Amino acid sequence: MTFKTIIEPFRIHSVEPMKMTTPQHRGKAIREAGYNLFSLHSDDVLIDLLTDSGTGAMSRDQWAGVQRGDESYAGSPSYYRFLESVQELFPFKHVIPTHQGRAAEKILFTAIAKPGKTIPNNTHFDTTRANVEATGAEAVDLPCKEGRDPSALDPFKGNMDVAALDALLSDRAGQVPVVFVTITNNSGGGQPVSLANLKEVREVCTRHGVALFLDACRFAENAWFIREREPGQHGRTVRDIVREIGSLADGMTMSAKKDGLANIGGWLAMNDDDLAGRCRNLLILTEGFPTYGGLAGRDLEAIAQGLREVVQHDYLRYRIRSTAYLGDALTRLGIPIVRPTGGHAVYIDARALLPHIPPLRYPGQALAVALYEAGGVRGCEIGTVMFGLHPDGTEHPAALDLVRLAIPRRTYTQSHIDYVIEVCAEVKRRSGQLPGYRIVEQAPTLRHFTARFEPLTA
Ligand SMILES: Cc1ncc(COP(=O)(O)O)c(C=O)c1O
Repeated sequence: MTFKTIIEPFRIHSVEPMKMTTPQHRGKAIREAGYNLFSLHSDDVLIDLLTDSGTGAMSRDQWAGVQRGDESYAGSPSYYRFLESVQELFPFKHVIPTHQGRAAEKILFTAIAKPGKTIPNNTHFDTTRANVEATGAEAVDLPCKEGRDPSALDPFKGNMDVAALDALLSDRAGQVPVVFVTITNNSGGGQPVSLANLKEVREVCTRHGVALFLDACRFAENAWFIREREPGQHGRTVRDIVREIGSLADGMTMSAKKDGLANIGGWLAMNDDDLAGRCRNLLILTEGFPTYGGLAGRDLEAIAQGLREVVQHDYLRYRIRSTAYLGDALTRLGIPIVRPTGGHAVYIDARALLPHIPPLRYPGQALAVALYEAGGVRGCEIGTVMFGLHPDGTEHPAALDLVRLAIPRRTYTQSHIDYVIEVCAEVKRRSGQLPGYRIVEQAPTLRHFTARFEPLTA
């Protein structure tokens, strides 16, 4: 007999208190934060769905690894345990630890990109785009057409538009040092990429003689979706699917703060000896010696163990189902979300929910602020605030205005999520009265982290 309730495949071993707040307290806190949720004190947040990055709970065995961490400057056994765990899943020749994903991006793009170069991706994550653009190169997004439609019920909306990639590589021959595929496609709604699509991208890259790299932050969630949704894949283990994904690429960047199940860390991996040498030299300048790369030995141990746990099927079944639980409930409430629900987050379509707020008045920001004010739930705008400001200083609406409710791994229980659902229902009831916003202060790049806003009164 199998039961339909999918339970958390763990017991709680240590707990963290949460501070209960009132609407008055939250109103004052968000005003003082310039209506930017990144500027809040996290003590003033009840359920923190800002990101799934580095916010997960570590396991008993990861904490045991922390105790075993060896802090030798060079050649630590913790590095070799980390290396073995990474190569067990991604057998790249060179594995270079970094303190997080964007450090790997910065090093790689410094080594291969410059003005006149183009980097295509299914959809660049914000730090990836910023690191490409910081070199003077152009970051081009090539999502498949289903990925642009928030309501299309396609199983692999994270896919890359292979025909568009082929055309771009022909048009810009010699100008593209690498093609990136982001698994799962975070900025495109946390949607997975199919194995079939990855194979097609590989074929196009090989034909044009261009390297293929993965932005692999959520590789295990992506592999679970492949196992569940792609014909012919169900009988395979996730570990096996991950190894096949890795074998299709020439290298990867990784933030271990996601599917490394760790609170910090990342790596850059590749097969090319010459490129690895140049990257290691850059690593030494900013991150540290190549066997620790900006991490403590104890962090390397936490990642090594996290990689063993993240591919376990009971964990992934619970993980993907608990995200879908929130998505299904919001859909039943008539709240428009990107469908089907992605792996790590539910993305509310703020532009559709708040049609009275034009994109340049930031409907995503308006919704994110309202969720905080109503119930202390912190989400993240992924829309015109994040992507609307261009390197030439002009501002345009982003393709979508979303609010991402990212679910930290192994952290919140079902009753926390039931509370989030109630808060969303309340904000939907008041949605017609929510104001738009204007920006009163902003940085020239990655403005969403520090901008200050003001509500626009009618
Ligand atoms: C798809 C993707 N790429 C890269 C990064 C950057 O990783 P990090 O935050 O560790 O620098 C993130 C982080 O959220 C991400 O989601």
